[in-house]
Amino acid sequence: MTTQASPSLTAIVLAAGQGTRMKSTKPKVLHTLCGRPMVDYAIEAALAAGCGDVVVVVGYGRDELAAHLTKAFGDRVRTAVQEAQRGTGDAVRSALPALDPAAERVLVLCGDTPLLDPAELVRLAGSIEGGASVAMLTAMTEDPTGYGRVLRDADGNIFAVREQRDATEEERRVREVNTGVYVARSGFLRESVAGLLPNNAQGELYLTDIVAVASKAGGVASVRAESAAALVGVNDRAQLAAAEDILYGRIADRIRRAGATVRATARIDATVVVEADAVIEHYVVLRGKTRIGANARIDVGSVLTDVEVAPSALVKPYSIASDSTIGENAQIGPFSHLRPESRVEAEAHIGNFVETKKTVVRRGAKANHLAYLGDGDIGEGANIGAGTIFCNYDGFKKHRTEIGAGAFVGSDSQIIAPVRIGVGAYVGTGTTVTRDVPDDALAISRVKQENKEGYASRLKARLKAGAAKKPSDG
Ligand code: UD1
Ligand code: CA
Repeated sequence: MTTQASPSLTAIVLAAGQGTRMKSTKPKVLHTLCGRPMVDYAIEAALAAGCGDVVVVVGYGRDELAAHLTKAFGDRVRTAVQEAQRGTGDAVRSALPALDPAAERVLVLCGDTPLLDPAELVRLAGSIEGGASVAMLTAMTEDPTGYGRVLRDADGNIFAVREQRDATEEERRVREVNTGVYVARSGFLRESVAGLLPNNAQGELYLTDIVAVASKAGGVASVRAESAAALVGVNDRAQLAAAEDILYGRIADRIRRAGATVRATARIDATVVVEADAVIEHYVVLRGKTRIGANARIDVGSVLTDVEVAPSALVKPYSIASDSTIGENAQIGPFSHLRPESRVEAEAHIGNFVETKKTVVRRGAKANHLAYLGDGDIGEGANIGAGTIFCNYDGFKKHRTEIGAGAFVGSDSQIIAPVRIGVGAYVGTGTTVTRDVPDDALAISRVKQENKEGYASRLKARLKAGAAKKPSDG
């Protein structure tokens, strides 16, 4: 969903932490889910909820993180640096100078919560309209361990959030927890964050302390998340995997609703487009800018990265392709490998153990078995026999092979590039082609076969006699 961007709503995404539990040198929020860095999901959710712009608080690995943000979001996202990690309250403090002064409300999110639902953020932003100073997204959970507990008075009004480490036994039994997502009035946020003190078990500035302040000035509104998914903050690699599974499930469901079949174990990145009536079989992985046309079928175990598959094409099991195109009704696989810049046109066939690279396979051409076709142009309807190799590399440079329309290349031929085989020409099986072949010619470079009558028995007798003379000692 996308809500009209409002200049009065802005967002702060907290992402300065290293994420020590990931045991990684990479900043936690740059670890990917479904092909995208974690932080992108929080930013996308904020933008989809109508935020005019987003300030990301960076610290650990900030150059790497800032470079990514610029590349992915351009000027919709700015960064603010938190020099030392003194807590979530301090992180928000660091962001304040970068905030749009015109913003009336500020959405605060964590960069490690990739499963937030923008619709819920919109509800949260709306809930502050009644006049509250801050609104918080809460969730009910069976196991509240580690989360801040939401404390309510006898009338059900929130008066504080207590961190696990600072909570009493009784407070720890509370099952309503803080998801770490808030919308605050910007004036209130500036004042309350300025007044935070590190009087807690960790000696940090807790953003959660603004809730107690708000309860005495303006009030605290709240929205309860429909599912605990809003809570899934990713702290370690097990949580990364679990969150990614949920995201993959959502992507597959979206594609299914649009009318394509996606088997349970297929993994499709958010950036991929799958048209209606396509079938994506088990254990298929689709990445990047891949697009699957209507009625195409991608069979078990195939991995496609940035591949354009035209309608009704068939990719048979265990085929690998990247940065390539597959035409209408074309067939690939099983076990084909299309390396970058391969273009397989309509009705063409690429079979098992055939590798292509920077090669055009024109309409209806076929290479059905065991071949290497690099830096080539294979004409319409040409047939490439089993075991054909385009010898494109002399150790220094790559050279091109051109095969004319309707040409027939017999099995086990080596085509030493640069070379051109003419239209309708014929290359005899086992030929090493070193010179251009004219249109309609036959090229053949085989040694003449010789048959020696009765030679086999004579040879066997000789070998047997030799073995008897020199017995082996085992
Ligand atoms: C926080 C909340 C807790 C809530 C939980 C939800 C506080 C004090 N506690 O706890 O109530 O239940 O989130 O997941 O806010 N960060 C910075 N700079 C800092 C510290 C943190 O940018 O100095 C960033 C981290 O990178 C992270 C986010 O803030 O993205 C949350 O910090 P974290 O330390 O994970 O907070 P929790 O202990 O999980
Ligand atoms: Ca956390």
